[in-house]
Amino acid sequence: MKTNLPLDADRLWADVMALAEITDPQRPYTRRSFTALFLEGREWLVQRFNEAGLTTRIDTAGNLIGRMEGRNPALGVIAIGSHSDTVPSGGRFDGIAGVATGLEIVRALRDSGVQPEHTIEVIDFLAEEPSEYGLSCVGSRGMTGSLDDKMLALTEPGGETLRDALRRVGGDPDRLELAKRDDIRAFLELHIEQGIVLESQSLDVGIVSSIVGIRRIEVIFQGEADHAGTTPMALRHDALVAAAATVSSVRRAAEQLAAGGADYFVATVGILSVDPSASNIVPGRCRLVIDARTTQPALTQRFVEIIDRESTAHAMAARVTRATFATLSDGPPVACDPALRTALREGAHDLGLSEIDLPSGAGHDAAFMSRICPSAMIFVPCRAGKSHAPEEWADREAIAAGAAAIYQAVKALDQSLGRNG
Ligand code: GLV
Ligand code: MN
Ligand code: MN
Repeated sequence: MKTNLPLDADRLWADVMALAEITDPQRPYTRRSFTALFLEGREWLVQRFNEAGLTTRIDTAGNLIGRMEGRNPALGVIAIGSHSDTVPSGGRFDGIAGVATGLEIVRALRDSGVQPEHTIEVIDFLAEEPSEYGLSCVGSRGMTGSLDDKMLALTEPGGETLRDALRRVGGDPDRLELAKRDDIRAFLELHIEQGIVLESQSLDVGIVSSIVGIRRIEVIFQGEADHAGTTPMALRHDALVAAAATVSSVRRAAEQLAAGGADYFVATVGILSVDPSASNIVPGRCRLVIDARTTQPALTQRFVEIIDRESTAHAMAARVTRATFATLSDGPPVACDPALRTALREGAHDLGLSEIDLPSGAGHDAAFMSRICPSAMIFVPCRAGKSHAPEEWADREAIAAGAAAIYQAVKALDQSLGRNG
């Protein structure tokens, strides 16, 4: 355990734990974006931001931003952040650790008595996890000019559009251009690894080299609901039969594409809804959402061709219609900024922390931020690589060490950025 860190590990930890407490009590840890609990979490964050002396605002893309003015605001902004929403029955650290890190870094800067040259911002991005509207990274898409009208028209099962939901949480979908930034010189995000590389090699931090691209595809099969007892097998139009075969196709195609080994490829069907979903009714309608991730977009292209062809064949074989085959979102893989990676690595070395370069198979707000500014990430170990589950765990010292490496990097970048070019 590292002791002489330049920030307060206990204060940082207390924030992570306190925010985790704001959860649906029936399903810890759940704080879904756009819900009352999410807004409660944000209120709590606003109070902490204010106590730290930050001025706070919500931008038109629904991001909560805390700002510490620099001595030389013309130099632009160094931003640190992540997200405070969770998946259903998720963990206490995914996203939250990164927001709390930003907050602790500004407090530590303030405690050190030295006002940075750059303005420092702490950002809680809106809805990083896939929301009920079928879209992830809503806030970071908005901040980077990547949230379009088609996305805003997406609806949740109750019928509310993302456009209306954004308004409800303090954003302004009609003036999204105001959220787009050109003054951020560096974006840094701390995140739990959500994998086992760091833990298994007893390393303190990971310097993220690249972040996977994610494509999400919605497939809907339309058949005919019928009596399960009286409809002969030969006369059925069972939508779930086509959907089940498509799930198998996704698995088979992903295994084949990953088998080359040179590039990362995974694909998952994480949403499958059956209508009307009764034991004595032949399924009339089925909806799937496929999540495909890669470091090599050509593999996703091949995957989509295979699934397009096979799902059409499965629909024919089941005598149903493939009513929808649509891309919900498509983000390319991104490389993290080399200069920021160096700053993070040197920050880790300053503190005597061990580090390794590693790619991210999870999506992150930093992937979108890299569209408008140099962006990089640091990973900290999490127990058994478990994430998106209540057992998710990262040690107090592990988070503090990663946060301290970012603190060192911020101080170095504050001196170097905008000074020599
Ligand atoms: C974010 O948690 C993701 O889906 O990778
Ligand atoms: Mn997540
Ligand atoms: Mn996350």
